[in-house]
Formats: sequence, structure tokens, C-alpha cells
Amino acid sequence: MYTSKITGLGYYVPENVVTNDDLSKLMDTNDAWIQERTGIKERRWVKTGSDDTTATMGVKAAKIAIDRAGIDKDEIDFIVFATLSPDYYFPGPGVQVQHALDIKTVGALDVRNQCSGFVYALSLADNYIKTGMYKHILVIGSELHSHGLDKTTRGRGVSVIFGDGAGAAVLSREEDTSKGILSTHLHSQGEFAEELVVKAPGMGTRWVTDIMQENDPNDESYFPYMNGQFVFKNAVVRFSEVINEGLQANNLTANDIDMLIPHQANLRIAQFIQKKMRLIDEQVYNNIQRYGNTTAASIPIALTEAWEAGKIKDGDLVVLAAFGSGFTWGSAIIRW
Ligand code: UT7
Repeated sequence: MYTSKITGLGYYVPENVVTNDDLSKLMDTNDAWIQERTGIKERRWVKTGSDDTTATMGVKAAKIAIDRAGIDKDEIDFIVFATLSPDYYFPGPGVQVQHALDIKTVGALDVRNQCSGFVYALSLADNYIKTGMYKHILVIGSELHSHGLDKTTRGRGVSVIFGDGAGAAVLSREEDTSKGILSTHLHSQGEFAEELVVKAPGMGTRWVTDIMQENDPNDESYFPYMNGQFVFKNAVVRFSEVINEGLQANNLTANDIDMLIPHQANLRIAQFIQKKMRLIDEQVYNNIQRYGNTTAASIPIALTEAWEAGKIKDGDLVVLAAFGSGFTWGSAIIRW
């Protein structure tokens, strides 16, 4: 029996910084509201005309992760790419990564689990490695939200939160089963699918032909809709539930956590979980203040930053946890 270990991490964010004051020039919002409700001070938004896309940002993060893993790109056996903002409606960006990195024709899988996407992707990769099927898997979370947001006052409840960026990890086979990914825990509750959703284009609701035919400038179905307070209330419950589930499965308690990396949905959510689980500041890493909510990219970006800052050391217990659209949520318990 094998286990899987994160052997390389990398992230990439576009250089264009958008502050809360910048947003107040586009819509009726202000720095005080955004900081008080979300903790966000600024985010990165890809500039129009830039070469950055969900796939190319993923590739940039992946190159760093592969380099740090100390392997050749051709040792990658499989690619898993998590995003809700693919370059194309189909195919997903996994195949673009295979091509851009000029890796031999390995499999590439796309994960559509929004904010939980990276945890789901990691779980898949972990299990492919544990069964002995693959040795090195590239796992990417990348999002380009900014081109798809309603940047008018109508969309302010959603658009001020989201940012662009990418993070990547290389998962490698590890024989010492006391190390690496100890377990992952995944959940969903589809009855709340429409509480955080982009409806169009979609076969079940409004397909491209409808949108083109109607050509309605007030059509909001291709912008994200979020029932913010409802999502918030569910998030705080599910986050702590799924962290505790993971800890209990490994006979651990919150005291054992060296580093919790919560999906960066809202600083208030992370602070709520921290308090509920009685964790001290050193046990939790947040960077939403600088990047906003980058959905599937938020955990790998934060994990990479925490690791780069020396906050994660050999033998540490690292916990990843996410909640988002679907609803979907999940956790990963890792012995570094
Ligand atoms: O990552 C995926 C999971 N997502 C989340 O976990 C997000 C969870 N939800 C949240 O983080 C919060 O609900 C938000 C930050 C999205 C919103 O905060 P809120 O405290 O729930 O505000 P609200 O939506 O209840 O709006 C309160 C007021 C409203 O005005 P009235 O009706 O009280 O006059 C909004 O119109 O704030 C207004 N508002 C804004 N004002 C200034 C909404 N957005 C803005 C804005 N700037 N950007």
C-alpha cells in the first residue's frame, strides 16, 4: 500500500492589483463595507488583452510545482484540473496543460466542484496514487473570474469578492504511510445548487441559442448569483463539521493541527471557524485580504504561500477544508 505526498507547490497571480477603491469607481461600493464584511483589501484581476487565462495561469503555477518536486515533466502520469472558469465551455483546461507543458499523452481530468474543486481534485489524485495506478500527478486549481463578473452596482454583492489566480501541487507516491495525505472527506447537497450558481449557458436552463436569440442586455443568467447570507450560514457549519470528521477519522483533535488552510471564501468565515475550533492565529493561514476569493485556486495559493514562508514543516499536521457552490464541501488531512 502506498500513500501520496505533496512534493511540489507553486502559484501564480496576475500582476494587476485591483483595490476596493478601484471598485468604488465602477459601482456603488466602498472600502469600509468590503473590508468589514469580507476582510478583502485587494484582489488580482487579469487585464483585458493579457495572455493570462485559466489554463495559462495554471501552467505557470504547475511549472513551479514540477520544478520544486524535482521531477521531469515527463514523469507526470496524470493531470487533474479544478476550475469553474475554463477557457472553453469544452474541452476543459486539463488537456491545454498537457499540450502547453508538452507532456506525453497522459490522461487529463477536469473537476467542476467550484470552491471545493481543489480538495476534490486532491482526493482523486491521492486515491489514484494509493491504488498504485500512478506515481506523480499534477493537480491544479485555477480561476479567471474577473471577465465573467457583473461589475455594475447590480452585481456588487458578488463581484467584489472574487479574484483571479492559480495554484498547483505535484502529488507523488510515498511508501512511508505515516506521512502524506492521511484521508480526504467529500460531501455535497444538491438541493442548494441554485443558491450559488451561474445558470447560462446550460442545457437545462438557458442554452446559447436562447441567449443569442433574445439578445437581452438585462439578462443576468450568465452572471454568478449568490444568496450570500444563506451560503455564509451553511459554510460555517459545514467547514467545522468536515474538519472534525477528518480529525476524528485519524484519531486527532483540533489541538493537533499545525496549519489549517481554509478555502478563502470570506475572512469572517475563516475567523468564525478558528474561534469555534479554538485555534490560535498561528494555526490558521489566510490571504484573502490580498487575493479575494479565487475559488478552486485559493487553497493551493494559500498552501504554497504558507509553505514558502516556512510555516509548514516536516511532520506538521496540515488540514485543508473547503465549502462552496453545489453545495459541495470537503477536507484533507495531511501529515507533511
Ligand atoms: O466561496 C464560495 C462560498 N461563498 C461564500 O462563502 C460567501 C458567503 N457570503 C458572504 O460572504 C456574505 O454574505 C457577503 C460578503 C457576500 C455579503 O455580506 P452580507 O453581510 O451577507 O451582506 P448582504 O448581502 O446581506 O447585504 C447587506 C447590505 C445590502 O443593502 P441593504 O439591503 O441592507 O440596504 C446590500 O445591498 O449591503 C449591500 N451590499 C453592498 N454594499 C456595498 C451588498 N454588496 C455590497 C457592496 N458594497 N459590495
